[in-house]
Amino acid sequence: MSKLEDLNRNQRKANIEIDMEHLKKLFIMPDSPDKFVEFGTELLDMIHSFFQENGGIHSSISLNDLSKLFSDINIPRDSQLLKNVLIEIKQKIVAHSVKVGSPYYIGHMTSVVPYFMVLLEMLIAALNQNQIKIETAKASTFVERELISWMHMLVFKKPEKYYKANIQNRNVALGNVTLDGTLANLTAMKVARNKAFPAKDNFPGIRSSGIFEAFQYYGYAKAVIIVSQRGHYSFGKISRILGIGDGNLIKIPVDTQNKMDLEKLKCKCDEINEHNLKNPTKKIKIISIVGIAGTTETGNIDNLAEIGKIASKNKAHFHVDAAWGGSLLLVEEYRYLFNGIESADSVTIDAHKLLYAPTAMGMVLFKSRKDLNNIRHTSNYIIRRDSVDLGRFTIEGSRPFSALNWKVKIMSLK
Ligand SMILES: Cc1ncc(COP(=O)(O)O)c(C=O)c1O
Repeated sequence: MSKLEDLNRNQRKANIEIDMEHLKKLFIMPDSPDKFVEFGTELLDMIHSFFQENGGIHSSISLNDLSKLFSDINIPRDSQLLKNVLIEIKQKIVAHSVKVGSPYYIGHMTSVVPYFMVLLEMLIAALNQNQIKIETAKASTFVERELISWMHMLVFKKPEKYYKANIQNRNVALGNVTLDGTLANLTAMKVARNKAFPAKDNFPGIRSSGIFEAFQYYGYAKAVIIVSQRGHYSFGKISRILGIGDGNLIKIPVDTQNKMDLEKLKCKCDEINEHNLKNPTKKIKIISIVGIAGTTETGNIDNLAEIGKIASKNKAHFHVDAAWGGSLLLVEEYRYLFNGIESADSVTIDAHKLLYAPTAMGMVLFKSRKDLNNIRHTSNYIIRRDSVDLGRFTIEGSRPFSALNWKVKIMSLK
Protein backbone atom coordinates (compact mmCIF):
# COMPACT_ATOMS: atom_id res chain seq x y z
CA MET A 1 0.00 0.00 0.00
CA SER A 2 1.42 3.44 -0.97
CA LYS A 3 1.92 6.12 1.67
CA LEU A 4 -0.82 8.22 0.09
CA GLU A 5 -3.33 5.36 0.21
CA ASP A 6 -2.36 4.73 3.81
CA LEU A 7 -2.96 8.38 4.66
CA ASN A 8 -6.34 8.47 2.91
CA ARG A 9 -7.40 5.31 4.67
CA ASN A 10 -6.53 6.70 8.08
CA GLN A 11 -8.30 9.96 7.31
CA ARG A 12 -11.45 8.10 6.27
CA LYS A 13 -11.29 5.99 9.39
CA ALA A 14 -11.08 9.15 11.46
CA ASN A 15 -14.31 10.43 9.88
CA ILE A 16 -16.37 7.46 10.94
CA GLU A 17 -17.76 8.01 14.39
CA ILE A 18 -17.94 4.82 16.39
CA ASP A 19 -19.28 5.30 19.87
CA MET A 20 -22.15 3.97 21.94
CA GLU A 21 -24.33 6.96 21.13
CA HIS A 22 -24.10 6.34 17.37
CA LEU A 23 -24.49 2.60 17.71
CA LYS A 24 -27.66 3.06 19.75
CA LYS A 25 -29.07 5.22 16.99
CA LEU A 26 -28.22 2.61 14.39
CA PHE A 27 -29.78 -0.43 16.05
CA ILE A 28 -33.37 -0.57 17.22
CA MET A 29 -33.02 -0.50 20.96
CA PRO A 30 -35.42 0.62 23.70
CA ASP A 31 -34.07 4.18 23.91
CA SER A 32 -33.42 4.94 20.25
CA PRO A 33 -36.61 5.11 18.19
CA ASP A 34 -36.16 8.61 16.71
CA LYS A 35 -34.04 7.64 13.65
CA PHE A 36 -36.25 4.64 13.06
CA VAL A 37 -39.39 6.73 12.85
CA GLU A 38 -37.66 9.43 10.77
CA PHE A 39 -36.25 7.00 8.21
CA GLY A 40 -39.42 4.91 8.30
CA THR A 41 -41.58 7.90 7.40
CA GLU A 42 -39.37 8.77 4.45
CA LEU A 43 -39.40 5.20 3.27
CA LEU A 44 -43.17 4.92 3.54
CA ASP A 45 -43.53 8.13 1.52
CA MET A 46 -41.25 6.70 -1.13
CA ILE A 47 -43.21 3.44 -1.33
CA HIS A 48 -46.48 5.34 -1.47
CA SER A 49 -45.39 7.61 -4.30
CA PHE A 50 -44.04 4.63 -6.26
CA PHE A 51 -47.48 3.03 -6.17
CA GLN A 52 -49.25 6.26 -7.06
CA GLU A 53 -47.19 6.80 -10.20
CA ASN A 54 -49.02 6.21 -13.42
CA GLY A 55 -47.33 5.09 -16.59
CA GLY A 56 -45.97 1.86 -17.95
CA ILE A 57 -45.03 -1.32 -16.22
CA HIS A 58 -41.44 -0.11 -15.89
CA SER A 59 -39.11 2.66 -17.06
CA SER A 60 -37.79 2.65 -20.62
CA ILE A 61 -34.12 2.36 -19.66
CA SER A 62 -32.31 -0.32 -21.66
CA LEU A 63 -30.92 -3.36 -19.83
CA ASN A 64 -27.48 -2.34 -21.03
CA ASP A 65 -27.77 1.14 -19.51
CA LEU A 66 -29.25 -0.33 -16.36
CA SER A 67 -26.30 -2.67 -15.98
CA LYS A 68 -24.00 0.36 -16.27
CA LEU A 69 -25.73 1.97 -13.27
CA PHE A 70 -24.51 -0.95 -11.18
CA SER A 71 -21.04 -1.51 -12.56
CA ASP A 72 -18.93 0.13 -9.86
CA ILE A 73 -16.36 -2.56 -9.15
CA ASN A 74 -15.22 -1.02 -5.88
CA ILE A 75 -17.00 -1.51 -2.57
CA PRO A 76 -17.89 2.04 -1.42
CA ARG A 77 -15.34 3.04 1.19
CA ASP A 78 -16.84 6.27 2.46
CA SER A 79 -19.88 5.95 4.63
CA GLN A 80 -22.92 7.93 3.48
CA LEU A 81 -25.87 9.36 5.31
CA LEU A 82 -28.84 7.01 5.06
CA LYS A 83 -30.82 9.95 3.68
CA ASN A 84 -28.51 10.07 0.67
CA VAL A 85 -28.59 6.32 0.27
CA LEU A 86 -32.38 6.56 0.14
CA ILE A 87 -32.20 9.12 -2.67
CA GLU A 88 -29.93 6.79 -4.60
CA ILE A 89 -32.29 3.86 -3.99
CA LYS A 90 -35.16 5.97 -5.30
CA GLN A 91 -33.35 7.15 -8.42
CA LYS A 92 -31.45 4.04 -9.36
CA ILE A 93 -33.56 1.15 -8.07
CA VAL A 94 -37.17 2.09 -7.40
CA ALA A 95 -37.41 4.15 -10.60
CA HIS A 96 -36.41 1.10 -12.65
CA SER A 97 -38.33 -1.57 -10.76
CA VAL A 98 -41.19 -3.54 -12.27
CA LYS A 99 -44.59 -2.21 -11.23
CA VAL A 100 -46.19 -5.55 -10.46
CA GLY A 101 -49.30 -3.68 -9.28
CA SER A 102 -49.91 -2.02 -12.64
CA PRO A 103 -53.25 -2.97 -14.22
CA TYR A 104 -51.24 -3.72 -17.38
CA TYR A 105 -48.99 -6.20 -15.57
CA ILE A 106 -50.33 -9.67 -16.21
CA GLY A 107 -48.91 -12.99 -17.18
CA HIS A 108 -46.74 -13.72 -14.18
CA MET A 109 -47.72 -15.13 -10.82
CA THR A 110 -45.69 -12.49 -8.99
CA SER A 111 -48.09 -9.65 -8.29
CA VAL A 112 -48.97 -6.73 -6.08
CA VAL A 113 -49.38 -7.59 -2.38
CA PRO A 114 -51.89 -6.21 0.16
CA TYR A 115 -50.66 -3.09 1.99
CA PHE A 116 -50.66 -4.72 5.40
CA MET A 117 -48.28 -7.42 4.21
CA VAL A 118 -45.71 -4.79 3.29
CA LEU A 119 -45.95 -3.35 6.77
CA LEU A 120 -45.91 -6.79 8.40
CA GLU A 121 -42.64 -7.46 6.60
CA MET A 122 -41.31 -4.53 8.59
CA LEU A 123 -42.52 -6.12 11.81
CA ILE A 124 -40.94 -9.43 10.80
CA ALA A 125 -37.63 -7.68 10.18
CA ALA A 126 -37.91 -5.69 13.41
CA LEU A 127 -38.63 -8.75 15.55
CA ASN A 128 -35.90 -10.58 13.61
CA GLN A 129 -36.88 -13.98 14.96
CA ASN A 130 -34.86 -16.89 13.61
CA GLN A 131 -37.15 -19.88 13.30
CA ILE A 132 -34.31 -22.36 13.56
CA LYS A 133 -34.42 -22.55 17.35
CA ILE A 134 -36.52 -21.55 20.33
CA GLU A 135 -33.84 -19.25 21.78
CA THR A 136 -34.40 -16.91 18.84
CA ALA A 137 -38.06 -17.69 18.11
CA LYS A 138 -40.20 -18.03 21.18
CA ALA A 139 -43.83 -17.25 20.29
CA SER A 140 -43.04 -17.52 16.58
CA THR A 141 -42.14 -21.23 16.88
CA PHE A 142 -45.65 -21.98 18.11
CA VAL A 143 -47.28 -19.62 15.60
CA GLU A 144 -45.56 -21.48 12.77
CA ARG A 145 -46.65 -24.86 14.13
CA GLU A 146 -50.24 -23.63 14.38
CA LEU A 147 -50.18 -22.35 10.79
CA ILE A 148 -48.79 -25.68 9.53
CA SER A 149 -51.50 -27.55 11.42
CA TRP A 150 -54.22 -25.33 9.87
CA MET A 151 -52.92 -25.95 6.36
CA HIS A 152 -52.49 -29.66 7.08
CA MET A 153 -56.13 -29.92 8.12
CA LEU A 154 -57.16 -28.02 5.00
CA VAL A 155 -55.33 -30.51 2.80
CA PHE A 156 -55.61 -33.85 4.60
CA LYS A 157 -58.79 -33.36 6.64
CA LYS A 158 -57.75 -35.66 9.48
CA PRO A 159 -60.00 -35.75 12.55
CA GLU A 160 -59.84 -32.88 15.03
CA LYS A 161 -58.34 -35.08 17.71
CA TYR A 162 -55.34 -35.70 15.43
CA TYR A 163 -54.62 -31.97 15.30
CA LYS A 164 -55.23 -31.48 19.00
CA ALA A 165 -52.65 -34.18 19.68
CA ASN A 166 -50.06 -32.93 17.19
CA ILE A 167 -50.41 -29.18 16.77
CA GLN A 168 -47.82 -28.40 19.45
CA ASN A 169 -46.30 -31.86 19.89
CA ARG A 170 -42.58 -31.11 19.89
CA ASN A 171 -41.67 -34.62 18.70
CA VAL A 172 -43.70 -34.29 15.54
CA ALA A 173 -43.49 -32.09 12.45
CA LEU A 174 -46.52 -32.11 10.15
CA GLY A 175 -44.66 -29.95 7.64
CA ASN A 176 -42.25 -27.07 7.17
CA VAL A 177 -42.49 -23.45 6.19
CA THR A 178 -39.83 -23.20 3.48
CA LEU A 179 -38.09 -20.45 1.61
CA ASP A 180 -40.08 -21.17 -1.56
CA GLY A 181 -41.77 -23.83 -3.66
CA THR A 182 -38.49 -25.27 -4.88
CA LEU A 183 -37.33 -25.90 -1.31
CA ALA A 184 -40.73 -27.38 -0.44
CA ASN A 185 -40.52 -29.80 -3.40
CA LEU A 186 -36.91 -30.60 -2.54
CA THR A 187 -37.89 -31.44 1.05
CA ALA A 188 -40.65 -33.75 -0.18
CA MET A 189 -38.38 -35.52 -2.67
CA LYS A 190 -35.61 -35.90 -0.10
CA VAL A 191 -38.04 -37.53 2.31
CA ALA A 192 -39.31 -39.76 -0.52
CA ARG A 193 -35.78 -40.81 -1.49
CA ASN A 194 -34.79 -41.60 2.10
CA LYS A 195 -38.02 -43.55 2.65
CA ALA A 196 -37.34 -45.59 -0.51
CA PHE A 197 -33.98 -46.85 0.82
CA PRO A 198 -34.45 -47.21 4.59
CA ALA A 199 -32.14 -48.72 7.20
CA LYS A 200 -32.53 -52.50 7.39
CA ASP A 201 -30.55 -55.17 9.28
CA ASN A 202 -26.90 -54.06 8.98
CA PHE A 203 -27.64 -51.52 6.26
CA PRO A 204 -27.73 -48.01 7.80
CA GLY A 205 -30.06 -46.46 5.19
CA ILE A 206 -29.33 -44.12 2.28
CA ARG A 207 -28.82 -41.12 4.53
CA SER A 208 -25.72 -42.69 5.91
CA SER A 209 -24.57 -44.95 3.08
CA GLY A 210 -25.17 -42.67 0.11
CA ILE A 211 -26.85 -43.60 -3.14
CA PHE A 212 -24.34 -46.13 -4.50
CA GLU A 213 -24.42 -48.49 -1.52
CA ALA A 214 -28.18 -48.06 -1.13
CA PHE A 215 -28.76 -49.12 -4.73
CA GLN A 216 -26.40 -52.07 -4.32
CA TYR A 217 -28.01 -53.22 -1.08
CA TYR A 218 -31.54 -53.14 -2.46
CA GLY A 219 -30.62 -54.37 -5.96
CA TYR A 220 -31.40 -51.21 -7.91
CA ALA A 221 -29.56 -49.75 -10.89
CA LYS A 222 -31.35 -46.42 -10.72
CA ALA A 223 -34.11 -44.43 -9.11
CA VAL A 224 -36.68 -42.30 -10.92
CA ILE A 225 -39.16 -39.52 -10.20
CA ILE A 226 -42.23 -39.37 -12.43
CA VAL A 227 -44.06 -36.14 -13.27
CA SER A 228 -45.99 -34.87 -16.28
CA GLN A 229 -44.48 -32.89 -19.13
CA ARG A 230 -45.91 -29.81 -17.46
CA GLY A 231 -43.87 -30.47 -14.29
CA HIS A 232 -42.02 -27.49 -12.87
CA TYR A 233 -38.33 -27.30 -13.76
CA SER A 234 -37.48 -27.45 -10.05
CA PHE A 235 -37.83 -31.24 -10.31
CA GLY A 236 -34.87 -31.28 -12.72
CA LYS A 237 -32.78 -29.36 -10.20
CA ILE A 238 -33.98 -31.59 -7.37
CA SER A 239 -33.10 -34.77 -9.28
CA ARG A 240 -29.60 -33.44 -9.72
CA ILE A 241 -29.25 -32.34 -6.08
CA LEU A 242 -30.46 -35.70 -4.76
CA GLY A 243 -28.01 -37.58 -6.97
CA ILE A 244 -30.76 -39.21 -9.02
CA GLY A 245 -29.76 -37.34 -12.19
CA ASP A 246 -32.20 -35.36 -14.30
CA GLY A 247 -32.00 -38.08 -16.95
CA ASN A 248 -34.03 -40.16 -14.51
CA LEU A 249 -36.81 -37.62 -14.18
CA ILE A 250 -39.50 -39.27 -16.29
CA LYS A 251 -41.90 -36.84 -17.96
CA ILE A 252 -45.24 -38.38 -18.87
CA PRO A 253 -47.05 -36.72 -21.82
CA VAL A 254 -50.20 -34.75 -21.10
CA ASP A 255 -53.70 -35.06 -22.54
CA THR A 256 -55.57 -32.31 -24.40
CA GLN A 257 -56.29 -30.59 -21.06
CA ASN A 258 -52.63 -30.44 -20.08
CA LYS A 259 -53.21 -33.08 -17.41
CA MET A 260 -50.95 -36.10 -16.99
CA ASP A 261 -52.08 -38.84 -19.39
CA LEU A 262 -53.07 -41.61 -16.99
CA GLU A 263 -52.83 -44.42 -19.54
CA LYS A 264 -49.28 -43.39 -20.40
CA LEU A 265 -48.45 -43.23 -16.67
CA LYS A 266 -49.79 -46.76 -16.16
CA CYS A 267 -47.83 -48.01 -19.22
CA LYS A 268 -44.61 -46.49 -17.87
CA CYS A 269 -45.12 -48.10 -14.45
CA ASP A 270 -45.90 -51.48 -16.07
CA GLU A 271 -42.78 -51.18 -18.20
CA ILE A 272 -40.67 -50.52 -15.07
CA ASN A 273 -42.26 -53.43 -13.19
CA GLU A 274 -41.59 -55.79 -16.10
CA HIS A 275 -37.99 -54.63 -16.24
CA ASN A 276 -37.68 -55.25 -12.49
CA LEU A 277 -38.97 -58.80 -12.81
CA LYS A 278 -36.42 -59.54 -15.53
CA ASN A 279 -33.54 -57.75 -13.79
CA PRO A 280 -33.72 -58.47 -10.03
CA THR A 281 -30.26 -57.02 -9.38
CA LYS A 282 -30.67 -54.02 -11.67
CA LYS A 283 -34.11 -52.83 -10.76
CA ILE A 284 -35.54 -49.32 -11.18
CA LYS A 285 -37.04 -47.72 -8.07
CA ILE A 286 -39.89 -45.25 -8.52
CA ILE A 287 -39.16 -42.88 -5.66
CA SER A 288 -42.12 -40.64 -6.27
CA ILE A 289 -44.97 -39.94 -8.63
CA VAL A 290 -45.80 -36.24 -8.67
CA GLY A 291 -49.23 -34.81 -9.47
CA ILE A 292 -49.55 -31.10 -10.21
CA ALA A 293 -52.30 -28.88 -8.81
CA GLY A 294 -51.95 -25.86 -11.03
CA THR A 295 -49.31 -26.31 -13.72
CA THR A 296 -46.99 -23.33 -14.05
CA GLU A 297 -47.77 -22.62 -17.67
CA THR A 298 -51.44 -23.58 -17.97
CA GLY A 299 -52.89 -23.78 -14.45
CA ASN A 300 -54.45 -27.23 -14.99
CA ILE A 301 -54.87 -29.66 -12.12
CA ASP A 302 -53.94 -33.32 -12.67
CA ASN A 303 -56.35 -36.11 -11.83
CA LEU A 304 -54.95 -36.43 -8.32
CA ALA A 305 -57.24 -39.23 -7.11
CA GLU A 306 -56.19 -41.56 -9.96
CA ILE A 307 -52.50 -40.66 -9.76
CA GLY A 308 -52.68 -41.37 -6.02
CA LYS A 309 -54.03 -44.88 -6.69
CA ILE A 310 -51.31 -45.59 -9.26
CA ALA A 311 -48.60 -44.33 -6.86
CA SER A 312 -49.95 -46.50 -4.06
CA LYS A 313 -50.06 -49.58 -6.33
CA ASN A 314 -46.44 -48.97 -7.27
CA LYS A 315 -45.36 -48.27 -3.67
CA ALA A 316 -44.16 -44.79 -4.65
CA HIS A 317 -44.39 -41.64 -2.56
CA PHE A 318 -47.27 -39.56 -3.94
CA HIS A 319 -46.40 -35.86 -3.96
CA VAL A 320 -48.68 -33.07 -5.11
CA ASP A 321 -47.00 -29.91 -6.34
CA ALA A 322 -49.72 -27.38 -5.48
CA ALA A 323 -47.24 -24.50 -5.29
CA TRP A 324 -49.31 -22.51 -7.74
CA GLY A 325 -52.89 -23.59 -7.09
CA GLY A 326 -52.85 -24.85 -3.49
CA SER A 327 -54.04 -21.66 -1.81
CA LEU A 328 -57.35 -22.08 -3.62
CA LEU A 329 -58.10 -24.85 -1.11
CA LEU A 330 -59.03 -22.03 1.25
CA VAL A 331 -62.11 -21.49 -0.88
CA GLU A 332 -64.39 -24.45 -0.10
CA GLU A 333 -66.38 -23.91 -3.28
CA TYR A 334 -63.35 -24.97 -5.39
CA ARG A 335 -62.30 -27.90 -3.23
CA TYR A 336 -63.69 -30.35 -5.78
CA LEU A 337 -60.94 -29.33 -8.22
CA PHE A 338 -58.40 -30.90 -5.86
CA ASN A 339 -60.27 -34.16 -5.38
CA GLY A 340 -57.74 -36.78 -4.22
CA ILE A 341 -55.21 -34.34 -2.76
CA GLU A 342 -55.93 -35.82 0.66
CA SER A 343 -54.44 -39.12 -0.53
CA ALA A 344 -51.05 -37.46 -1.16
CA ASP A 345 -48.07 -38.29 1.03
CA SER A 346 -46.88 -34.72 0.73
CA VAL A 347 -48.08 -31.42 -0.71
CA THR A 348 -46.30 -28.18 -1.65
CA ILE A 349 -48.10 -24.84 -1.39
CA ASP A 350 -46.68 -21.36 -2.03
CA ALA A 351 -48.13 -18.31 -0.31
CA HIS A 352 -46.37 -15.92 -2.69
CA LYS A 353 -48.46 -17.12 -5.59
CA LEU A 354 -52.26 -17.32 -5.24
CA LEU A 355 -52.25 -16.09 -1.63
CA TYR A 356 -50.65 -12.77 -2.65
CA ALA A 357 -47.95 -12.88 0.02
CA PRO A 358 -44.60 -11.16 -0.52
CA THR A 359 -41.93 -13.20 -2.29
CA ALA A 360 -41.08 -15.84 -1.18
CA MET A 361 -42.92 -18.16 1.21
CA GLY A 362 -43.43 -21.88 0.67
CA MET A 363 -44.74 -24.79 2.67
CA VAL A 364 -44.51 -28.56 2.48
CA LEU A 365 -46.98 -30.76 4.37
CA PHE A 366 -46.70 -34.48 5.07
CA LYS A 367 -49.70 -36.72 5.61
CA SER A 368 -47.76 -38.97 7.97
CA ARG A 369 -46.45 -37.26 11.07
CA LYS A 370 -43.48 -39.64 10.89
CA ASP A 371 -42.24 -38.69 7.42
CA LEU A 372 -40.13 -35.69 8.34
CA ASN A 373 -38.12 -37.95 10.66
CA ASN A 374 -36.47 -39.13 7.46
CA ILE A 375 -34.53 -35.87 7.29
CA ARG A 376 -34.44 -35.05 11.00
CA HIS A 377 -31.08 -33.88 12.34
CA THR A 378 -29.57 -32.62 15.56
CA SER A 379 -26.59 -30.67 16.69
CA ASN A 380 -25.13 -30.14 20.13
CA TYR A 381 -25.11 -26.38 20.29
CA ILE A 382 -28.53 -25.96 18.68
CA ILE A 383 -31.53 -28.10 17.55
CA ARG A 384 -31.01 -30.72 20.25
CA ARG A 385 -33.08 -33.90 19.96
CA ASP A 386 -35.45 -33.17 22.84
CA SER A 387 -35.81 -29.45 22.06
CA VAL A 388 -38.80 -27.75 20.42
CA ASP A 389 -36.55 -26.32 17.69
CA LEU A 390 -38.14 -26.27 14.24
CA GLY A 391 -34.67 -26.44 12.68
CA ARG A 392 -34.53 -30.16 13.50
CA PHE A 393 -36.76 -30.88 10.51
CA THR A 394 -35.77 -28.28 7.89
CA ILE A 395 -33.24 -28.26 5.06
CA GLU A 396 -32.64 -24.56 5.62
CA GLY A 397 -30.78 -23.34 8.68
CA SER A 398 -31.73 -19.78 9.59
CA ARG A 399 -35.24 -18.91 8.48
CA PRO A 400 -37.37 -15.77 8.79
CA PHE A 401 -40.70 -15.58 10.61
CA SER A 402 -42.59 -15.45 7.31
CA ALA A 403 -45.33 -17.60 8.85
CA LEU A 404 -46.67 -14.39 10.41
CA ASN A 405 -47.56 -12.92 7.05
CA TRP A 406 -49.19 -16.14 5.93
CA LYS A 407 -51.20 -16.46 9.12
CA VAL A 408 -52.45 -12.87 9.02
CA LYS A 409 -53.49 -13.35 5.41
CA ILE A 410 -55.57 -16.41 6.29
CA MET A 411 -57.09 -14.62 9.28
CA SER A 412 -58.09 -11.66 7.13
CA LEU A 413 -59.78 -13.76 4.43
CA LYS A 414 -63.55 -13.77 4.43
C1 LIG B 1 -46.10 -25.67 -10.03
C2 LIG B 1 -44.90 -24.99 -9.47
N1 LIG B 1 -44.09 -25.68 -8.65
C3 LIG B 1 -42.99 -25.12 -8.11
C4 LIG B 1 -42.65 -23.83 -8.39
C5 LIG B 1 -41.41 -23.25 -7.77
O1 LIG B 1 -41.71 -22.24 -6.90
P1 LIG B 1 -40.63 -21.18 -6.40
O2 LIG B 1 -40.36 -20.29 -7.57
O3 LIG B 1 -41.31 -20.53 -5.27
O4 LIG B 1 -39.42 -21.93 -5.98
C6 LIG B 1 -43.46 -23.06 -9.23
C7 LIG B 1 -43.10 -21.68 -9.57
O5 LIG B 1 -43.60 -21.07 -10.44
C8 LIG B 1 -44.62 -23.66 -9.78
O6 LIG B 1 -45.43 -23.00 -10.61
